[in-house]
Amino acid sequence: MNPDTPIYAARRARVAAQLGEGGIAVVPTAPVQMRNRDADFPYRHDSYFYYLTGFTEPHAWLVLTADGRSTLFCQPKDLEREIWDGIRLGPEAAPAALGVDEAFSVDELDQRLPRLLENRATVWYPFATHAGLEGRIDGWLGKVRARVRFGALAPEAQRDLCAVLDEMRLVKDAHELGLMRRAALISAGAHVRAMQRSSRMLRAGQAVCEYHLEAELLHEFRQHGAQFPAYGSIVAAGANACVLHYRADRAPVRAGELVLIDAACELDGYASDITRTFPADGKFTAPQRTLYELVLAAQQAAVEATRPGARFTDPHEAAVKVLTQGMLDLGLIDRDQHGTLDDAIARRAYFAHYMHRTGHWLGMDVHDCGSYVEPSEVGQVSERRDPLSGELIKDRPARILRPGMVLTIEPGLYVRPSEKVPREFWNIGIRIEDDAVVTDGGCELITRGVPVEPGAIEALMAD
Ligand code: GLY
Ligand code: MN
Ligand code: MN
Repeated sequence: MNPDTPIYAARRARVAAQLGEGGIAVVPTAPVQMRNRDADFPYRHDSYFYYLTGFTEPHAWLVLTADGRSTLFCQPKDLEREIWDGIRLGPEAAPAALGVDEAFSVDELDQRLPRLLENRATVWYPFATHAGLEGRIDGWLGKVRARVRFGALAPEAQRDLCAVLDEMRLVKDAHELGLMRRAALISAGAHVRAMQRSSRMLRAGQAVCEYHLEAELLHEFRQHGAQFPAYGSIVAAGANACVLHYRADRAPVRAGELVLIDAACELDGYASDITRTFPADGKFTAPQRTLYELVLAAQQAAVEATRPGARFTDPHEAAVKVLTQGMLDLGLIDRDQHGTLDDAIARRAYFAHYMHRTGHWLGMDVHDCGSYVEPSEVGQVSERRDPLSGELIKDRPARILRPGMVLTIEPGLYVRPSEKVPREFWNIGIRIEDDAVVTDGGCELITRGVPVEPGAIEALMAD
């Protein structure tokens, strides 16, 4: 048995205990996705399924009942297919390997599911996450109904399993935090490597393109066993940093410009998410440093606001305050138009140069699941008028942070050319992103294996 098997069994038991009398849950893994013609994308399991099984093969389903019994459906052993596609665990070995009570070939799914659903009160499954799942469930329920005249009862209720699993996944256990720390460490090392390659090549008079730096990242991820980038790597040289969803491409990386890298690995199913912005040749210019230090101060304010009992929105509000004050001071937003800091924030003047939120949950998915509204206060709706559009906005109290939650802290500043802003800041895009684990006393930044202080970045790149 895999040493982690009891962790998944304990999670299944926690889910089973929430299904209610007569509850049954059905969880498929992700489908194989074709890329083009007969070439497929690298396979990535479904996060919910993996959370409950630790099993990474495609074509698998988990069925859980409220009494705690678990049934796995997986690919049958098949020597010929295994010669082509790789070893399969197979249903015979699955109970011992994964700790499930029983396992069958996935070929038996349609035959066995109606029997498993029979005489159950409620069927739970993840809503709106798997194309065609609702249809499969309908088909099985139809077969149960066909047997009602023989005394079978069909489930009368369907419920969204995401509601249960999202709450569980939001607070990470020790096993998850261990993996996330390792993923963060690998990603931090990759950023260090990319920074050093940039300055080294430019010092040697070599041409550098964004893809050279991306290659360093990918090399470091794989070198340390990470299976994938956790999301499409952004390596944005110069003005490209002002395009929020830019991807690493072929633009030249030039001395005197900044490079923004937002890239991180997924290790054993867990994501990390890091952004660093650094001078391509290892030396910040004065305007670059001015804006960089403003973003860093905003991040520091957000980090200080990330602690148990605070709201999810507190770090964002702290960052916006620092950024907006800085924009007023540096002439990035018009002081005459927006007299006070509060006025500029209320009118969202900072949107001109800071148009995204300061963080998101992080876990198996880079934008991880979990409600951003505090569940115990979901009914407390307050209404306000948007000062710009006049639109009526309904707010619900933001999530209260608790130890074990993991979120990113990623303020930025993106200055596009405009006669309204000093020319020295044109085309500078900066984001600094770290991953924070909420602890008993505040938060722990698990991604500081790559520095953020401008002096430390310069020292690293001079090395
Ligand atoms: N890399 C995705 C994000 O920062 O949200
Ligand atoms: Mn992020
Ligand atoms: Mn990111």
